[in-house]
Amino acid sequence: MEVKTSLLDNMIGVGDMVLLEPLSEDTFIENLKKRFDHNEIYTYIGSVVISMNPYKSLPIYTAEKVEEYRNRNFYELSPHIYALADEAYRSLRDQDKDQCILITGESGAGKTEASKFVMSYVAAVCGKGQEVNKVKEQLLQSNPVLEAFGNAKTVRNDNSSRFGKYMDIEFDFKGDPIGGVISNYLLEKSRVVKQTRGERNFHIFYQLLSGASDDLLKKLKLDRDFSKYNYLSLDSATVNGLDDAASFRTVRNAMQIVGFMEDEVQSILELVAAVLKLGNIEFKPESRVNEFDESRVKDKNDLKEMCELLGIEQFVLERAFSFRTVEAKMEKVSTTLNVAQAYYARDALAKNLYSRLFSWLVNRINESIKAQTKKPKKVMGVLDIYGFEIFEDNSFEQFIINYCNEKLQQIFIELTLREEQEEYVREGIEWTNIEYFNNAIICDLIENNKTGILAMLDEECLRPGTVTDETFLDKLNTVCAEHQHFESRQSKNSKFLTDHSLPHNCFRIQHYAGKVLYRAEGFVDKNNDLLYRDLSQAMYKANHSLMKLLFPEGNPAKVNLKRPPTAGFQFKASVGTLMKNLLTKNPNYIRCIKPNDKKAAHIFTDSLVCHQVRYLGLMENVRVRRAGYAFRQAYESCLERYKMLCKQTWPQWKGPAREGVKVLLTSLQLHAEEFAYGRSKIFIRNPRTLFFLEEKRRQCLEDLAALIQKIYRGWKCRTHFLLMKKSQVVVSAWYRRFAQQKKYQNIRCSALVVQSFIRGWKARKLLRELKHKKRCEQAVTTISAFWHGTQARRELKRLKEEARRKHAIAVIWAYWLGLKVRREYRKFFRANAGRKIYDFTIQRIMQKYFLGLKKTMPSMSPIDKSWPSRPYGFLDGTHKELRRVFHLWRCKKYCSQFTVEKKATYEEKLAASELFKDKKALYPSSVGQPFKGDYVEITKNPKYQKLNSLAEDKVLLADVVSKINRANGKGAPRIFLLTKKSLVLADQKTGQVKASVPLLDLSSVSVSTQNDGFFALKLKEGAVSAAKGDFLLSSDRLIEIITKLHRTGAASADRNQIKIDISDEFLVQFKQDKVCVKFIHGTPKNGNSVACKRKNNRLLEVSVPSP
Ligand SMILES: Nc1ncnc2c1ncn2[C@@H]1O[C@H](COP(=O)(O)OP(=O)(O)OP(=O)(O)O)[C@@H](O)[C@H]1O
Ligand SMILES: [Mg+2]
Repeated sequence: MEVKTSLLDNMIGVGDMVLLEPLSEDTFIENLKKRFDHNEIYTYIGSVVISMNPYKSLPIYTAEKVEEYRNRNFYELSPHIYALADEAYRSLRDQDKDQCILITGESGAGKTEASKFVMSYVAAVCGKGQEVNKVKEQLLQSNPVLEAFGNAKTVRNDNSSRFGKYMDIEFDFKGDPIGGVISNYLLEKSRVVKQTRGERNFHIFYQLLSGASDDLLKKLKLDRDFSKYNYLSLDSATVNGLDDAASFRTVRNAMQIVGFMEDEVQSILELVAAVLKLGNIEFKPESRVNEFDESRVKDKNDLKEMCELLGIEQFVLERAFSFRTVEAKMEKVSTTLNVAQAYYARDALAKNLYSRLFSWLVNRINESIKAQTKKPKKVMGVLDIYGFEIFEDNSFEQFIINYCNEKLQQIFIELTLREEQEEYVREGIEWTNIEYFNNAIICDLIENNKTGILAMLDEECLRPGTVTDETFLDKLNTVCAEHQHFESRQSKNSKFLTDHSLPHNCFRIQHYAGKVLYRAEGFVDKNNDLLYRDLSQAMYKANHSLMKLLFPEGNPAKVNLKRPPTAGFQFKASVGTLMKNLLTKNPNYIRCIKPNDKKAAHIFTDSLVCHQVRYLGLMENVRVRRAGYAFRQAYESCLERYKMLCKQTWPQWKGPAREGVKVLLTSLQLHAEEFAYGRSKIFIRNPRTLFFLEEKRRQCLEDLAALIQKIYRGWKCRTHFLLMKKSQVVVSAWYRRFAQQKKYQNIRCSALVVQSFIRGWKARKLLRELKHKKRCEQAVTTISAFWHGTQARRELKRLKEEARRKHAIAVIWAYWLGLKVRREYRKFFRANAGRKIYDFTIQRIMQKYFLGLKKTMPSMSPIDKSWPSRPYGFLDGTHKELRRVFHLWRCKKYCSQFTVEKKATYEEKLAASELFKDKKALYPSSVGQPFKGDYVEITKNPKYQKLNSLAEDKVLLADVVSKINRANGKGAPRIFLLTKKSLVLADQKTGQVKASVPLLDLSSVSVSTQNDGFFALKLKEGAVSAAKGDFLLSSDRLIEIITKLHRTGAASADRNQIKIDISDEFLVQFKQDKVCVKFIHGTPKNGNSVACKRKNNRLLEVSVPSP
């Protein structure tokens, strides 16, 4: 970044007072004034920043400025509070040194503003991120909340901090903020009940009344009009340039960001409202009872509203304002309060309530901004404590505030003036001591454990007997009379007996910042800070959780008779802790100066500034700096920083660091008096020399940077080149490999093609050869076969020829012989001899035929169809006739074997065949089954004795059949008994007769064409046995039953032919109804069994499995 201004160039006045020539108080003030007139409000004394309050907003806190000062050397740019903040933050982040920023100056000098600038700078330059930003935002937003409750308009400052604040910002190892802790010091609570002229109460009261919505005000039972509240002074209720309503919105928003819950905010505002209400409660004297003054609440409306707001019972609070209970030695004594005491109690309650609420707020904020880690933290403390105050009327609060400032001055002296001078001595550097005023003596006057003013005040407060502010002053007059910085009319020190500027009821302390006159009145009370127990108990009884928290001592279960520590004691202790804390950190000073008393821009009141410069010890500060050395640094770090300025020390110095620094500085040819070589540090007298070194370093760094750049660029190019080269080698290697691979694959492919061609050609050649060979072999075989064939045929022909010839010879010979014989015997034969020979021959042949037939006769079975073949064609007719005759004979033989029963059986079978063959599918299966007739052995079974007797003649058939129930199609077993005259149906188990039908009554029988055993016996209409209707029965032996029935009917004397109907649908007469029985081919789910189902009243469906 371009350096816009350097501390030495284009400087208005002198940026660092150490460089001021000549140095005197006048030139010092002149320099400040000159810079102030040009809006240069910051000036350095070495590393201390002087800040003049410009009382106007300057464009020097922009984001660009932040960037300008970020990571820059302290002296590099013109003085700015950002330079100090940057320096502190960087040494915290980079060197792990905890920092504290001590901002001092009197009221209105700009301390609070400075602290905010520091915080916002640090927030802007440190790390970023969602979590970090949230922490930053919470830390920054804690300011508006605390300012609303802890700041007020005073005559000196429209936004005066009425409490001391020390904030530790905690960072992690990277330098990112992770949380914070705020400590608050003694809120000026007297302001709650009373404000001096031209001042007003804490901002929050005005902000609430101006900014709250009508609704909220109604809820809080408040009125927007300030004049309605006694605690709000009227003369300066509104402040120029302050928009209370807008501030209220800012505060509420900030509270939300910090993490306050909506109900917490409501509770807080209720308490603020309660304080206002409290101020309106007034008392009137009541008639004297038992000689004691008593008071009563005048107008109970405010009391009532306050009680409603806090949930307190009205009479409890009323009583607490009228009576006071004192406990002593287990005894409770109740005394009445007079009007003055009642007012005192009321104000004490209001003050306590407000100050406790404030402390609770701080704790609550701390809870929100607390770091969420236990890891080690780096800390930057920012101290913004109330400035030194000199009023016309100074009381206990000013005394305490000024004591605190006194302690801070002490730290400043300790660390900047004394410590610095001691360092020179320690380092063995020649040094003439600079005189400065050490305020340790004033601190001792106030805080000494025995003779200190605070100790005496405590002693008085705790002393039995009557204790008043006068007795306290008396005590001071005796104990502190001799002290140089204590002044009082009554003191033994006769010096002040005639000093009329010193009233009798006052004492004066010569503070480091000037003399302050304190009125003793109220010291004892304020130090005691007493709140009647009745009041705290009444508050504890409130139905308001926050209220209960604020008054824990009101809990009757925790009554503590021990006196609480006094306000002075507490303050001294917390200041002690603060000082200890500050001493452990690296201090950074911002000394704030107020240019005028009018809060006006452009006015520079020399005397006022001069006074501040004096008491802040700034001149001494400059002198020590000037007499001493502007800059010091350990040899090691100095060498490390500047080693590049000398060839011998760059890049590495081997010897001791001190020697290295000497060589380095000598080589730079600087004046010897500019340096002092201490034991462990090098001291540089003039900042100019330091700037020179810094400038040289900067140039050198530029050169080095150029060199590094050059080398880096070279290295980068070379690396790039090598990389390219390497890549090129890799690429070409890959390419070559690829090309070779391609080439190889081509050659390989070609070789394979050539190979395959050659192999093919060779194979074809071989095949041709083999084929040729095979053909040759085949030809040879064929030829030889032909040859052999020819030979064989020739031979056969020859043999045949030979045989023919031989036969011809034999025939010829036989003919010849015959001829010879016939010629020879012709004379011996008669004329018919030929006939006889013929007949003889025929006889011989016949004989031979019959004998052969006898031998080859077929079996006697009538079904054997075999017959020998005929030997001579002329016997064809005979042969057939013989076969027929034989078969008839064989059948006769077979029939002659039959008995009468068997014959009858065959007749039945024959009858069955006539009836059912090719008509009913069940028939073929019955052919092989013999018709036994009596299957249940009725004659033998004693169970059926009665049945047997019923059949007066022979039982033709007895079997178990199923009688089909028309209602459900299910069958019931029945004995079916057929005699020559009737048929009987009887129970299978008992043999009891169920029905007996004379065959004469039977008109017809209906069966289906299918493979089922269902049959219907239809009775003649009007017959006696037909009363119950026809019978639908089922039997596996249906063929036998029906055949027998038919035959019996046919055989009966009166020739009652029973008709057999074969059809897949027939009607059966059941009592009155006619039901159709229908046969269908069954579906697979019926399985292989016949199923009969009733479909409706008129239909029985029999499903028969498909064959
Ligand atoms: N750097 C600044 N730029 C502009 N205005 C400033 C600056 N510093 C202070 N002021 C003005 O001066 C007023 C008082 O400053 P500030 O509140 O910081 O004083 P203080 O030192 O904190 O006083 P007290 O001790 O009373 O709290 C501010 O309200 C603001 O108007
Ligand atoms: Mg302030």
